[in-house]
Amino acid sequence: MKPKVLVTRSIPEAGLALLRERVDLEIGPSEGFMPREVLLAKLPLFDGVLCLLKDRMDREALDAATRLKVLSNYGVGYDNIDVPYATAKGIVVTNTPDVLTEATADMAFALLLAVARRLSEAERIAREGKWAWAPDFLLGADLHGATLGLVGFGRIGKAVARRAKGFGLRIRYTLARPSAEGDELGAVHVPIPEDLLAESDFVSLHVPLVAETRHFMNEERFRRMKPGAIFVNTGRGGLVDQEALARALNEGWIAGAGLDVFDPEPLPAEHPLFRAKNLLPAPHIGSATPNARNGMAVCAATNLLAVLEGRTPPNPVLV
Ligand code: NAP
Ligand code: GLV
Repeated sequence: MKPKVLVTRSIPEAGLALLRERVDLEIGPSEGFMPREVLLAKLPLFDGVLCLLKDRMDREALDAATRLKVLSNYGVGYDNIDVPYATAKGIVVTNTPDVLTEATADMAFALLLAVARRLSEAERIAREGKWAWAPDFLLGADLHGATLGLVGFGRIGKAVARRAKGFGLRIRYTLARPSAEGDELGAVHVPIPEDLLAESDFVSLHVPLVAETRHFMNEERFRRMKPGAIFVNTGRGGLVDQEALARALNEGWIAGAGLDVFDPEPLPAEHPLFRAKNLLPAPHIGSATPNARNGMAVCAATNLLAVLEGRTPPNPVLV
């Protein structure tokens, strides 16, 4: 008998096709997400689940999944899953690194450039048609010669650093071990995060959301940043105290911010952050390219099949 697999929401066909051949497959909604109560009711029936970042795989969900062998996350971040608890229950957790690295780094850089050169404001003014070129009109921040501080220097942090080198930025990184690739990029390891924040013109977050990194950017740390600095977050919303960021923008502790991630998602429209000055928000689209999303689908399906077929998955999440 084929193993039973639930994909909690439809994903690109490239991944589904791999699964269809080899498992008894149930696919969730093609739009939106599987409601929590539906998910909890289904979990006891499956040997494998391919879940999305929006699916909260906490103790309650994992306890419901009585025959589950593998939880394959469609995403590289896995803060939606209680990995230690899953592992203790013998459930293998996997994720999708690498295939989305370049797309997400592009997004971080797009936000950085767009905030630096005030593109949201520029678009609005251009559409209104009431402007005149002037020496002091819509001046933005230079990248060339400025300092970029990367919080996290893993796959995505390094991919951002490669882009930054081409733009003539000086690169610093923290919350990561010193890395040989850093030397190649001329990137300098800064052991104390506060030092990196104080010397950077741009700060970009690329660490996972775990207990130690939750609200890494708090009021004290935003106050450490330069008044002209720009903050970018494509990591997770929970890395940031969003009320502190709203104050930092409104009170001029920093100059601007570009955010792809929020806590919660979507962040309610009435949240103070959306009234903050010089904020460019995006709806969690870091990996939103066909290549990345197809790659994630293939990767998640491959991981899932490996575990169900008794092989070591390419991307296990280890505790
Ligand atoms: P990665 O290769 O694992 O890099 C993580 C970096 O964070 C490493 O430099 C690691 O340091 C550092 N780090 C610091 N504290 C850590 C801790 N407590 N636990 C683990 N690592 C810690 O991850 P990645 O592929 O670059 O992805 C980074 C994050 O980006 C993901 O976790 C996810 O939240 C986010 N993401 C967002 C999007 C989006 O759509 N916006 C897309 C993809 C990923 P060491 O090297 O010293 O271990
Ligand atoms: C997206 O946010 C991911 O972690 O893959």
